[in-house]
Amino acid sequence: MDPRIAIISERLKPIKKIIAVAAGKGGVGKSTVATGLALVLAEMGYRVGLLDLDFYGPSTHVILGLSEGIQPTEERGIVPPTVHGIEFMSIVYYTGKNPAPLRGSDLTNALIELLAITRWGELDFLIVDMPPGLGDTTLDAIRLLKNPSFLVVTTPSRIAYETVSKLIALLSELNIPILGIIENMRRPSDRARSAFDMRLGEELPFDEGLEDALGDPERFLQTEFARRLREVALTIIPRSRS
Ligand SMILES: Nc1ncnc2c1ncn2[C@@H]1O[C@H](COP(=O)(O)OP(=O)(O)O)[C@@H](O)[C@H]1O
Ligand SMILES: [Mg+2]
Repeated sequence: MDPRIAIISERLKPIKKIIAVAAGKGGVGKSTVATGLALVLAEMGYRVGLLDLDFYGPSTHVILGLSEGIQPTEERGIVPPTVHGIEFMSIVYYTGKNPAPLRGSDLTNALIELLAITRWGELDFLIVDMPPGLGDTTLDAIRLLKNPSFLVVTTPSRIAYETVSKLIALLSELNIPILGIIENMRRPSDRARSAFDMRLGEELPFDEGLEDALGDPERFLQTEFARRLREVALTIIPRSRS
């Protein structure tokens, strides 16, 4: 038994709700949705944390515009810096611009270590940007985060539906709650909505202005994407309480 596992439970205690943003697929907008959700929830006055678990391609710090030199402080663990009102934790504090070439067991180890050292404050929500794929890290994260609720992201493409439906099947098998299924990057010309559970279906528009707003949260919050994301947040907050 790894003693760090017991520590992780203690570390997660001050958190009311953990929301994992996942797709089983890359490039659909997980990181953008996860960071955006953290920003709009913080703007609404909730206490929010953001944890980037995409060790191979961490990117939430780019969207947040994390300044160089900002580092966690050590104090009976590692205290995540507050960035734009969000307690923010990512492997980039330690890897910087270098890749993190981790293999299977090292990846699990890094995940356990990160969760064991991070000392979150009292949080209403911890938003987790999940790794792509349904491999070890995803399964480990589900186990270590004690079955978080999921927000599933897809794009309006049959290729994305194919993979995302596998994630949804896996979550259902594990009895893990799904708070919503977001079809991101929708364009007006996109055809009818997918066959996913209509009760959970949400849409976010393709937003031309998003790229220029990356790294500038104030500007990000003024985009059409963020405007719609606030509405999505308002539908998933009550779901996250049940
Ligand atoms: N709704 C959107 N409109 C326009 N661009 C978007 C939208 N959502 C995401 N993007 C862009 O698509 C790219 C992939 O998004 P990202 O969040 O990194 O995906 P993932 O984390 O799933 O790999 C990024 O360049 C991001 O800025
Ligand atoms: Mg990503």
